[in-house]
Amino acid sequence: MAIFRIFGGVPLHGDVRVGGAKNAALPMMAAALLADGPVRLEGVPQLTDVEMLGRVLRALGMRVRWTNENRLCLETINARAVEAPYKYVRRLRAGFCVLGPLVARRGRAVVPLPGGCRIGDRPVDLHLAGLSALGMRWRLERGFIVAEAERLAGAEVDLAGPRGSTVTGTANVMSAAVLAEGITIIRGAAREPEIVDLGRFLNRLGARIDGLGTPEIRITGVPRLSGGTYRIIPDRIEAGTLLTAAAMTQGNVRVSGAIPEHLESVLEHLRQMGAEIVAEEKSIELRMTDRPLPLELEARPYPGVPTDLQAQLTALLSLARGTSRVTDTVFPQRFLHVPELNRLGGRLRRKNGSVVIEGVERFRGAAVQASDLRASAALVLAGLAARGETVIHAAQHLDRGYERLEEKLAWLGAGIVREKSICPQMVHVM
Ligand code: UD1
Repeated sequence: MAIFRIFGGVPLHGDVRVGGAKNAALPMMAAALLADGPVRLEGVPQLTDVEMLGRVLRALGMRVRWTNENRLCLETINARAVEAPYKYVRRLRAGFCVLGPLVARRGRAVVPLPGGCRIGDRPVDLHLAGLSALGMRWRLERGFIVAEAERLAGAEVDLAGPRGSTVTGTANVMSAAVLAEGITIIRGAAREPEIVDLGRFLNRLGARIDGLGTPEIRITGVPRLSGGTYRIIPDRIEAGTLLTAAAMTQGNVRVSGAIPEHLESVLEHLRQMGAEIVAEEKSIELRMTDRPLPLELEARPYPGVPTDLQAQLTALLSLARGTSRVTDTVFPQRFLHVPELNRLGGRLRRKNGSVVIEGVERFRGAAVQASDLRASAALVLAGLAARGETVIHAAQHLDRGYERLEEKLAWLGAGIVREKSICPQMVHVM
């Protein structure tokens, strides 16, 4: 267990580099199961989610090792292993991304229904329907999906659910279809940059995927994939979090390595709140000199404002000069941060599926509890802007998706330190 102790009220200033995208790295690691040679991924962030999926893949007979700080090498050693252990997948929803590659390459998979962030009901029906359309047969046995197929066959698949497409579902079906016989057309495909990146990675290994970044992806199956080397795109959620931190503390920060095109709708909203933004080819600079202006914000699938930045932007709007409203159309229940932001002096209330935020002049430091990854990030941002000391318990949740967040923030001038917490039972034992 970790604690972050934050001494708030310091405007952030300076230059910081964004790491590689977690949500691109994870499905690519799973897709490495498809390859007949070693896969080298560059720019992989060192995160607990990456570590956890590495353990799943080791249990599935892969050698997974870091060959330098952010380069991960993955290679199949034993192609007979097909069971993903529950103890890892329950902590990592993206662990379910091994299902498609396993069935496509090894003909059989035993994968537990996934866990992951506590952000409401997260079904996998679309993953299963899509893979079934390619010829996968499955049954549920004691919480595990037990799936089989001879060679998968191309098909037309629709992945549009009631709340838009599914991101990891698109990753699962696209990765499997790469080795299916014939042509697969995925309608209602996710358009997120991480899915585009996964498709480019698979093409680098010999796949034939067209239509990436559009709602219709066309895949012509190939008999095998080779190994290869690929550099992952920068993490737009980390970049957006750092920019929001700058806005909340009325600072001036340049995030280098970030791709402005991936954050267009977020930058547009930040501008509407009063931020001055200079977007260059591979960097984004934000300056904020006043409290934000209020607005209505809706998290949507790409190219909309990502649900993974909703909590952080909600924290920012908590300091606005007026009343804002935030809705999350992707995960309508994703508001674990609301009660904790109120502990810090925010004035937020749930109303008809949205959050209505009456802006306050400042947060006041307090002890708060981290929960899901992005809700925890929102608490860090609030702590940075708060007067006095904020203590964030269970801060290890942040390590799932942010590489050395406290070091990056300290580099920008924030008063933030990580401490180990000792749980009460341990004190008793000692
Ligand atoms: C991915 C991201 C996560 C992000 C989310 C939405 C990864 C590893 N995780 O999660 O960070 O918050 O996209 O951008 O990339 N749904 C169904 N049936 C399904 C699957 C999903 O109805 O079979 C619904 C979900 O309940 C949700 C919506 O579709 O309302 C989007 O979920 P989805 O895109 O699948 O999220 P993840 O891929 O799990």
